[in-house]
Amino acid sequence: MKKVLFISCLGMAALFMLPGICYGQKSEQEIDRNVKELLSKMTLEEKVGQMTQVTIQAVSAVRGTAEQAHRLDPAKLEEAIVKYHVGSILNVYDVAHPLDYWHEVITQIQDVATQKTRLGIPIIYGIDAIHGANYTREATLFPQSIAMAAARNPDLMKRSGEITAYEVRASGIPWNFNPVLDLARTPLWPRLFETFGEDPYLASVLGAAYIKGLEGENSDVGAPDKVAACMKHYLGYGFPMSGKDRTPAWIPERMLRDIFLPPFKKAVEAGIHTVMVNSGEINGIPAHSDYHILTEILRRELGFKGLVVSDWEDINRIYSRDKVAPTRKEAVRIAVMAGVDMSMVPYDFSFYEDLLALAKAGEVPLSRIDEAVGRILWVKFRLNLFENPYPDKKMKEKVGSEEFAAVSLQAAREALTLLKNEGNYLPLAKNKKVLVTGPAANLRSVLNSGWTYTWQGNEESLYPKNKKTILEAIQAKIGAERVAYVPGSTFDEALDIAQAVEAAKNADVAIICIGENAYCETPGNIHDLSLPKAQLDLAAAIQQSGTPAVLVLVEGRPRIITPVADDSKAILMAYLPGPEGGLAIADVLFGDYNPGGKLPFTYPRHPNDLVCYDYKPLETDDPNKMNPLYFFGHGLSYSAFEYRNLEITPRAAKDGEPIQVKVTVKNTGERAGKEIVELYLSDLYRSVSPPVRQLKRFSGALLQPGESKTVEFTLNRDDLAFHGRDDKYVVEPGEFKVAVGNLSAMFEIVETAGKASR
Ligand code: BGC
Repeated sequence: MKKVLFISCLGMAALFMLPGICYGQKSEQEIDRNVKELLSKMTLEEKVGQMTQVTIQAVSAVRGTAEQAHRLDPAKLEEAIVKYHVGSILNVYDVAHPLDYWHEVITQIQDVATQKTRLGIPIIYGIDAIHGANYTREATLFPQSIAMAAARNPDLMKRSGEITAYEVRASGIPWNFNPVLDLARTPLWPRLFETFGEDPYLASVLGAAYIKGLEGENSDVGAPDKVAACMKHYLGYGFPMSGKDRTPAWIPERMLRDIFLPPFKKAVEAGIHTVMVNSGEINGIPAHSDYHILTEILRRELGFKGLVVSDWEDINRIYSRDKVAPTRKEAVRIAVMAGVDMSMVPYDFSFYEDLLALAKAGEVPLSRIDEAVGRILWVKFRLNLFENPYPDKKMKEKVGSEEFAAVSLQAAREALTLLKNEGNYLPLAKNKKVLVTGPAANLRSVLNSGWTYTWQGNEESLYPKNKKTILEAIQAKIGAERVAYVPGSTFDEALDIAQAVEAAKNADVAIICIGENAYCETPGNIHDLSLPKAQLDLAAAIQQSGTPAVLVLVEGRPRIITPVADDSKAILMAYLPGPEGGLAIADVLFGDYNPGGKLPFTYPRHPNDLVCYDYKPLETDDPNKMNPLYFFGHGLSYSAFEYRNLEITPRAAKDGEPIQVKVTVKNTGERAGKEIVELYLSDLYRSVSPPVRQLKRFSGALLQPGESKTVEFTLNRDDLAFHGRDDKYVVEPGEFKVAVGNLSAMFEIVETAGKASR
């Protein structure tokens, strides 16, 4: 195998060297030639097989559990790859593997693909590495995306992508089903924590940064430490009317384009190689059957070149669940003709059989099959899988290194968002006597939640003991003798609330760690956004004891805490901060880190008042007034920041002319701190009622006490444009307001490119 690699390196158009590794980057023309040549040799069966993806479960003898090791079934593996020609395998069954075992699995699979098949086409293995290589036991884990969004730090986001790519590829896997570019527009949705929050611009910037990290600055996924990224779940997933996962969404075309499409558009511009389809339906149309979304918008408008993979079982569900196709075979025809290139079937070979029959009967033209297979092979060639389908054992050394863990810790610190700090109650002095209580205080799993070692992330025994819980981190910081611990309640039931109250009476402060137990996807559906009663009771009982209460919220979505917010001295939002979250929380509580995170979603005050920050003029005044507990963008610091000299040039511009914005921010506090400077734009009047404001730019400024910095932003046409009454993309003349910090200023668009449709 080494010999093959060496020869192919010499034969390639451009050579790159990474420490100890040589790889070649083929030109696009060469790849296109390779794809065509290979396609011309393939039988129909081989082509349809390439479009088939099965789960590892389908080729396994034994599932992995916390107690038992997983094992592949060589006979099933051969059946899948040799008989059915499958092109792709995914997932774990059911527990993350140690790195060495991943090497065995991938090697076994690629041996069959490259040595036992006629054409030797390697398998593309795909995995959900959602917050780091979370299905590799030794890997570095990061805060979940919702927390990364609070940190608002594209460089850190990119770095987490680079580390994730390194560790996924080090496991022998070249394809990551991430980022999730859906938006957190309904707080009930259990997948909110996988997103970058409710705002399209924020998700666009962080998504693109992460993709650059995974795929490389120039989308050079052929590099041995890069993987193909997969933007998902295209398009309009995450806005189910009921708030429950995989339930109907109703999204008009204008909203789809103004709100949900931009992060995907940016990802395509960033060069992303693959996309996964929305598992639900929009406006009555299952996304997997939607030609408009999958072909007209994705291919013709966005110019996406890569491969479209279905989500789990979702082609079949057009028939079995959605009742849009009367047979399984018809569902396959509809999905493939709508634009799905690969089916995550995932348990059997039904897709293969149905598509083969459809192609033989001429119901799916061969040209469409060649197109889909061409895209799949394009990704495989881009990944250099033909030259090197096997894991690189040398990469093992850096997996889970301290260098990588430090990045995760920094991310957790930057994510933490101080929502309330009455009379500067925090930070706490390290000589205080502290009660730590609440169900999130002494568990590692809840800091990470879903997609950690298992799908649901709730297997506490799998979590490495060297990572600290919140309780352990506080004990380590101020000395165990100063810390009392009483759980108080589970996530849903009261335990020893009376005992917690007694312990609070003997403490100077109670740190109440509440929130959500680990969950993932549909099992995380809830019927009520309120924090469960047992936890509210615990917090209220402690507050009544008179001991000052600090809430630490460990949760993947904003559960309603209103009944206990007023009587808390301070509230720290931790989101799902990852394995270093305990340390980061202790750092912030005791003043070793100055918090600077900003909410990436609106924190609702009431369970039925769920409006995003870019609400409409109709919601400005009583009785409809938008009144959340905390707005998107809210987040306090132990320092204070003052804004001055907001300048806009020009004040009157033509459509398309860039607008320059400058502002000076000063740290007027006594500690160094990071202020995330955010620019919000309001179109004052337009033919479709405007959002009250929209985030258009942000930039982090790290400032010493007394230090100032001037931040500059440029607004472009896309920042001002929207889809008008006829769904055309327009900028309408008129006044715009720019707001940064507590300052605002106006500019005017005096002439537009096209006539507006007021
Ligand atoms: C999820 C996807 C995921 C896939 C493969 C599905 O249930 O919706 O996000 O990539 O499973 O694990």
